[in-house]
Amino acid sequence: MAISDFPRYPLLFGPSPVHPLARLSEHLGGAKIWAKREDVNSGLAYGGNKTRKLEYLVPDAIAQGADTLVSIGGYQSNHTRQVAAVAAKIGMKCVLVQENWVNWPDSLNDRVGNIMLSRIMGAEVRIDPAGFGIGFKSSWQRALDDVRNAGGVPYAIPAGASDHRLGGLGFANWASEVEQQERELGIFFDTIVVCSVTGSTQAGMIVGFAGQDRPRRVIGIDASAKIEETRDQVARIARNTAALIQLGRHLRDDEITVRPEWAGEFYGIPVESTLEAIRLTGRLEGVIIDPVYEGKSMAGLIDLVSSGEIPRDSTVLFAHLGGQPALNAYSALFRQ
Ligand SMILES: Cc1ncc(COP(=O)(O)O)c(C=O)c1O
Repeated sequence: MAISDFPRYPLLFGPSPVHPLARLSEHLGGAKIWAKREDVNSGLAYGGNKTRKLEYLVPDAIAQGADTLVSIGGYQSNHTRQVAAVAAKIGMKCVLVQENWVNWPDSLNDRVGNIMLSRIMGAEVRIDPAGFGIGFKSSWQRALDDVRNAGGVPYAIPAGASDHRLGGLGFANWASEVEQQERELGIFFDTIVVCSVTGSTQAGMIVGFAGQDRPRRVIGIDASAKIEETRDQVARIARNTAALIQLGRHLRDDEITVRPEWAGEFYGIPVESTLEAIRLTGRLEGVIIDPVYEGKSMAGLIDLVSSGEIPRDSTVLFAHLGGQPALNAYSALFRQ
């Protein structure tokens, strides 16, 4: 099946906007930098990369006769907030297991930002003290069993909608969207910079671009501080997605690049370069990024452009994948 044969439930406004970051480019004095804005891709609860992935999971949930979306993430998961929004939109119930993924001492961590939005949208939020991990969790299995025991039909969506047969399709299609926008703008993005944690965003992009004629670099920036896991996850999802949409060739190892340098020590804990990237992007562009994800990928972009590792004659596309609601749980960082 080609990607266009997979059913897609429209949840986005349309193609997400692309625009230049002119003042940031000038400030860094290297490659030209543009952004593609998944943070404003939808009217559903501030959108984000998961909303795009879920366009391909929703038809499957409907086809299976599901009535409840069940998913998992940290207290400030953007993913679970987007699942809650999509459940509301399509008239399903929603159960979310929210784990203590980040040892961040903000007393409002389990009350403000994403988790508050999920509650507003009617999701059943189950707080669980388990730590960070994108693998299988018994609390999640319990949530699925509870829905079944109550006579419901759950549809299981893993963390980040990544480790799912259809998880890579949303961003494989993003690559076609980029190509179309390039044609309209008369431009070519030779380098894409994207944040990676659960992996299907970057994996989808790799597959989508691999099917195009003109090669480009996709540079993943790890934000999980577990680089081997992230690399394995991106490679596995990319290869599974390539087989699913019949790419017709094997993905080479050199097409799968995930860089560890800007993750800091822990998922969810910003380091100095993260905060500098957030401030610089805010002050030069009026664009808001978060301390968990895009603060780290932007820190990577800033270093790679400033050092010339991304050459001066490049045109770079920064994937802004959303995530700003989590800022509310990090207020202490910006008091002065
Ligand atoms: C705002 C934001 N950026 C980046 C990512 C990373 O995407 P992925 O989990 O598909 O690697 C996520 C989700 O984990 C996210 O919510």
